[in-house]
Amino acid sequence: MKSSLVLASAVFLSLVPMHAQSLPEGPGKSTFENTCGGCHGADIVIGQTGTRDVWQDTVDSMRSRGALGTDDDFKTIVNYLTMYFGVPVNVNSAPAKELVDNLNLTSAEADAIVKARDKSKFKDYSDLAKVDGLDIKKLDPVKSRIKF
Ligand code: HEC
Repeated sequence: MKSSLVLASAVFLSLVPMHAQSLPEGPGKSTFENTCGGCHGADIVIGQTGTRDVWQDTVDSMRSRGALGTDDDFKTIVNYLTMYFGVPVNVNSAPAKELVDNLNLTSAEADAIVKARDKSKFKDYSDLAKVDGLDIKKLDPVKSRIKF
């Protein structure tokens, strides 16, 4: 009896950090967990990727299934999912709108990228860091999704 209890709690404890690691830290994580964790684990999105449009559709469909939150909550969740469960984006060829949607840039920042690549294509991340009007730190969380 006692040993099975110890075993059960050991199994439980070993699962907790695994889940905590799987959901990336970032703005919107707790809103996502609170709003989306009620019917299924919030880890249902792990392993999935999508564009902003795809995540917007998923969130809309969960809303119609009964997910409860404010408009702002759902906006925050779409941003969180797009940022941390997003798709690869080629900064040499993606239209400005895709840079805005999927890399969470302003349209001024996307235009700055387009202007710079029209002069010469980016070879790597250090080229991107030289773009006037772009704060490269903003791209840190999505660095692994950026392609050249
Ligand atoms: C009221 C209950 C409920 C809430 C709250 C909820 N979901 Fe779901 N979710 C479901 C059900 C039921 C399914 C299974 C649907 C199916 O198999 O078509 C599902 C499936 C999913 C799937 C996998 C299938 C797919 O459509 O890709 C994802 C991803 C998902 N939910 C994301 C979310 C997100 C993000 C939120 C928060 C905005 C959320 N869910 C909140 C009920 C809910």
